[in-house]
Amino acid sequence: MDSIEGLFSLRGHRGLVTGASSGLGVECAIALAIGGADVALIARRADRVKDLAAKLANEYRVKAIGIGADVTSEADLDRVMNEAPAALGGEIDILVNNAGVSPTGRAENFKRELWDEAIAVNLTAPMMLAQRAARRLIAAKMPGRIINMGSIYSSVASSVYRLSAYTASKAALANLTRQLAVEWAQYGILVNTIAPGWIPTEATEAGIAKAGNKQRMEEFTPLARLGKPEEIRGAVIFLAGPASSYVTGSVLSVDGGYQAW
Ligand SMILES: NC(=O)c1ccc[n+]([C@@H]2O[C@H](COP(=O)([O-])OP(=O)(O)OC[C@H]3O[C@@H](n4cnc5c(N)ncnc54)[C@H](OP(=O)(O)O)[C@@H]3O)[C@@H](O)[C@H]2O)c1
Repeated sequence: MDSIEGLFSLRGHRGLVTGASSGLGVECAIALAIGGADVALIARRADRVKDLAAKLANEYRVKAIGIGADVTSEADLDRVMNEAPAALGGEIDILVNNAGVSPTGRAENFKRELWDEAIAVNLTAPMMLAQRAARRLIAAKMPGRIINMGSIYSSVASSVYRLSAYTASKAALANLTRQLAVEWAQYGILVNTIAPGWIPTEATEAGIAKAGNKQRMEEFTPLARLGKPEEIRGAVIFLAGPASSYVTGSVLSVDGGYQAW
């Protein structure tokens, strides 16, 4: 740990990022490639993850593969956890559970199918993928990293949007992170949450554009601006690499100070 390379290089590691077809998932994938990790990129829009994989392989000289998959399908997760290690030439030792959905609706009328989808994508899928990755790492006697994409709404409710399923699933994901960190510490598998604030992406642009929302968000944020998608990269490189070797079960906020007051 006496050089920048020693602190932050991900060379020789293999990462898997879910939801890498847009927004923060793209940035997580770029972050791992900047660090030198080989990467598998997962989303339902297979064309997008395949294109990004080709771009990262070309720009960063890493191995990269895009795999079309739905994270709510156990069969797809099994396929991914066979295809990705085979394509990259070894176990996935950095898992970024980033895929997420954020349906809105008044709590008193919140639709059951939207609730079920949010729990399936935001909470159940990260657990199903984490356990598949951990089983393989434990069997191979390899350490690893799991990064779950939480939110400011892992800790607090939203006064801007009606997000009951989202806030419930993201809070549960943060505490699942702690439980996995405790159970898997003995195997050297470190598990952490990143908690972003408001960042414009496909998921959030329309909401931000609604009258008054951007101004409200900026007023709630000590840094007085929204985040930029690429501002997630540093947190991913830190939590995936040697610099965070004594960090597990934590929530790393990337929110312009939103949760500080
Ligand atoms: N942007 C923000 O302000 C913000 C703040 C806090 C937390 N977050 C979290 O950051 C993560 C990424 O969000 P984003 O803002 O980047 O949104 P986004 O641009 O809409 O990206 C969501 C990603 O999840 C994937 N996904 C959704 N359902 C899926 C499924 N069933 N199977 C596989 N992939 C699925 C989508 O890919 P396909 O549609 O191609 O499958 C897409 O790549 C989410 O967990 C979100 O909660 C975002």
